[in-house]
Amino acid sequence: MSAAEPTRARPGTGNAEWQERKVAAIARGQGNIAPVYVERAMNAELWDVEGKRYIDFGTGIAVCNTGHSNPKVVAAVKAQLDKFSHTCVMVTPYDTAVRLAEALNELAPGSTAKKSMFVTTGAEAVENSIKIARAHTGRRGVIAFNGGFHGRTLLAMGLTGKITPYKNLFGPFPGEVYHAPFPIDYHGVSVDDSIKALQAVFKIDIAPSDVAAIIVEPVQGEGGFYAAPNEFMQALRNICDEHGIVLVTDEIQTGFGRTGRFFATEYSGIEPDLMTVAKGIAGGFPLAAVVGKAGIMDAPLPGGLGGTYAGSPIGCAAALAVIEVIRDEGLVERANAIGARFRERLQALKARHPSTIGDVRANRGAMIAIELVEDGDVDRPAADLTRALVAAAYEHGLALLSCGVNGNVIRFLPALTISDELIDEGLDVLDACLAELLQ
Ligand SMILES: Cc1ncc(COP(=O)(O)O)c(C=O)c1O
Repeated sequence: MSAAEPTRARPGTGNAEWQERKVAAIARGQGNIAPVYVERAMNAELWDVEGKRYIDFGTGIAVCNTGHSNPKVVAAVKAQLDKFSHTCVMVTPYDTAVRLAEALNELAPGSTAKKSMFVTTGAEAVENSIKIARAHTGRRGVIAFNGGFHGRTLLAMGLTGKITPYKNLFGPFPGEVYHAPFPIDYHGVSVDDSIKALQAVFKIDIAPSDVAAIIVEPVQGEGGFYAAPNEFMQALRNICDEHGIVLVTDEIQTGFGRTGRFFATEYSGIEPDLMTVAKGIAGGFPLAAVVGKAGIMDAPLPGGLGGTYAGSPIGCAAALAVIEVIRDEGLVERANAIGARFRERLQALKARHPSTIGDVRANRGAMIAIELVEDGDVDRPAADLTRALVAAAYEHGLALLSCGVNGNVIRFLPALTISDELIDEGLDVLDACLAELLQ
């Protein structure tokens, strides 16, 4: 094979052959859930290189909330491409970035005047939220939560509260990062337990007057789809107010209508100081942002925040279209209807498999999960079954994702534009696969 040949697709190449080439060409650290090579995707369906169709319950991990190749998003991107694709927002900016910042400032929870700044990935948004909090407070410490996920860059990885595969092999970790338990009723951790443990961090590890930021996901994503109770978010708000700590809510997975509110933080009624957004913001184009109180956002010096591709014109055009689609098509309300449909079906499934489905979590719009256990025991995670169920689902034409600190949670993140018929068809596949595996 000549040097140029590997870059050419050979007609008729199937999933197995691509997977073999992928394993040989791409580092194993960048693993893939399924050996399914996508040829095209439309709304809530995918087709692979062999022509097989899949119902997509994952949307590329909560990215294509407005559906794959949403026609309005595609049109906005094409129009932008015809004008220009890059100048760098930090050199010669463009109106779409300003309009998007204005829209995000308006959408962010709470009445305090807001500003935004753009980057490219979720991890970068997290890193920048901590930089801003540190610049504003002149303090160094950061507190995050067990089971939280904030990204794979050094500081974001340090904040992440799960070792395998995100942290082992990658130390040393950034200093002055502390973790407290996240309240999960199903696992016997109450809000009170969690707040007491946080107060203990202030006694044992770092004085609250040295803490720049507390960062929290309003619904833990990778950690297992656990919604933060409203009273927990309110308690964090009070603690931050008492000690002058910046409260950062990480809305990277929960944002843009996904949870049945525009942002999941809205459930608790609190106003975060800073909020990180990415994923669903631009319907599949790489864009992320920090949105927050203007007085805090302006702490870093000009040039201290940003990046070459920060707020790319393509991403900004896509994001403006995404926001319009969410509003015009009532997708926030639709997320709640999707959640209700899943809830009914999944609870019926749990009733038929009570010792396997330990918990159904479907009270945050279209961010839905089931936790699989052995013999109904919350402390015996059924990780092997979860893996097998995901594999079987792909075999039967359903794209599914798992998550959870113990790898025993199936998460459902369908496009908010999915039809009821496709939801039912996808859940029929899940039902049949589970029944077959439990036989
Ligand atoms: C809550 C949360 N924060 C941060 C990130 C990191 O985002 P990215 O993968 O775009 O860097 C993720 C990604 O899954 C996430 O779910």
